[in-house]
Amino acid sequence: MKKKIIEPFNIVVFGGNSDLAFRKIYPALYQRFIDNQLNCNFNIYAVIRKRISDSEFRLNIEKFISSSSKNDIDNNQIEEFFKKISLTEVPNHTIEGYSTLKKELEKTKEHQNIYYLSTPASAFGDISIMLKKCNLINKRSKVVLEKPLGFDLASSKTINSQLNKSFSEDQIYRIDHYLGKETVQNLMVLRFANHIFEHAWSSENIESVQITVSESIGVEKRGDYYEQSGALLDMVQNHLLQLLCLIGMEPPVKLEANFVRDEKLKVLKSLRLLNYESASKNVVKGQYTRGKNIDNINQKKKIPSYLEDIGKFESNTETFVAIKAFIDNWRWKGTPFYLRTGKRMKRRYSDIIINFKPVKHNLFNNDEEIPGNALIITLQPEEKIELVQMTKLPGPGGYRYKPVSLKLDFLDSFSQRLPEAYERLIIDILRGEQTLFMRQDELEAAWTWIESIKKCWKNNDIKNILYESGTWGPGDSILNKNHSWTRKNNYEDN
Ligand code: BG6
Repeated sequence: MKKKIIEPFNIVVFGGNSDLAFRKIYPALYQRFIDNQLNCNFNIYAVIRKRISDSEFRLNIEKFISSSSKNDIDNNQIEEFFKKISLTEVPNHTIEGYSTLKKELEKTKEHQNIYYLSTPASAFGDISIMLKKCNLINKRSKVVLEKPLGFDLASSKTINSQLNKSFSEDQIYRIDHYLGKETVQNLMVLRFANHIFEHAWSSENIESVQITVSESIGVEKRGDYYEQSGALLDMVQNHLLQLLCLIGMEPPVKLEANFVRDEKLKVLKSLRLLNYESASKNVVKGQYTRGKNIDNINQKKKIPSYLEDIGKFESNTETFVAIKAFIDNWRWKGTPFYLRTGKRMKRRYSDIIINFKPVKHNLFNNDEEIPGNALIITLQPEEKIELVQMTKLPGPGGYRYKPVSLKLDFLDSFSQRLPEAYERLIIDILRGEQTLFMRQDELEAAWTWIESIKKCWKNNDIKNILYESGTWGPGDSILNKNHSWTRKNNYEDN
């Protein structure tokens, strides 16, 4: 496929000294810069509200670049990169407040301007209105939005209508960083470039799909934000549903943004809404208490509870959620999709397991069922794909079999470094490629389903089940028994 060239650009990062900017945006730009992909003219404007010193700002960037990079930083390269960045003060949302930025951008009128809003969503409206008032938007301008894009369907619509006063849908890039992960993009190739899988990809052959994103970290310093979102909004509404879409969607007519998004939208619209009865059987929410932390095994001190982390005495916010979901369409009727995510779990990993149905008749031992095949796609921390299949145990004396994995480890097959999600996403924005970004109607369909769960929780005052930090969460005890939740026992390695 022919790649579009990257035209000269200015990237204006509102929230220029935000955690996200330091952790993700600057390191991604730096990495693409030293890989020679940004070989056009460009400038980075880090928009700040209050002046900070250049040296402090540079030190911070350097710190995050070196912690995200496997190699030592080259002094010349980082100096060249710093030449591209200017700290720009925008103290308030007035014409005067935007005057320095305007002056700067007017120096390079031929550049495309990318406005990256790494700020709370409450500022999106003001920023986009001011950019328009200052004549800083033209057809080539783009706006990049970070989540949370609202806390429910209504607020998401409000944010969107504010933005639409300045930008059209084809100028808006809503980031879901999971879509930028190499292993997540590989789902498209795995499905649509391999006949053997696509052929078997339906409820005729697939018994269940399990999508798990397990994190060992807690809420860190994001308590205020997390209190309003919880695991359902923080992870399921976006990342897990996007993974579900990539597994569940029909092949798009073309690999173009709107064709792909149309197919994802159909999946979201086919999700069966939950009501009180189905939610009480098929949804579990939990919250972590004190406990151990597996990723930091030497830690003697107990890890604090969620309440201690946020400094409150009570909270009904969930840090774990598990949902048995159904896609009511021709392809997936009857196949459960198990979605599960939690903080302070035993180990950090994300995977998707496709459990195939068992063969209809056991030729080797009539008394038992042969476990079905499984396709295990590990997204992180390592990237690999395993096909679990039955194999004869070597030796004389009849047929005995056991599940054995055929493994494809990305590191073994591809020597080059897998780029960080943000590197790919930023390059796509510069090229004007929207496939990996959510369209507003997708977002609204996701909200509609999420709200059916929220409503059940709220109306019935559903409480969290407490789980100890460093365990697999309440799903361990509850969903195992009642909902055949975990990996099939044969493949269980945790
Ligand atoms: C973010 C969530 O979107 O994704 C965080 O807000 C979460 O709470 C993070 O920790 C997980 O991302 P990753 O790439 O580390 O799996």
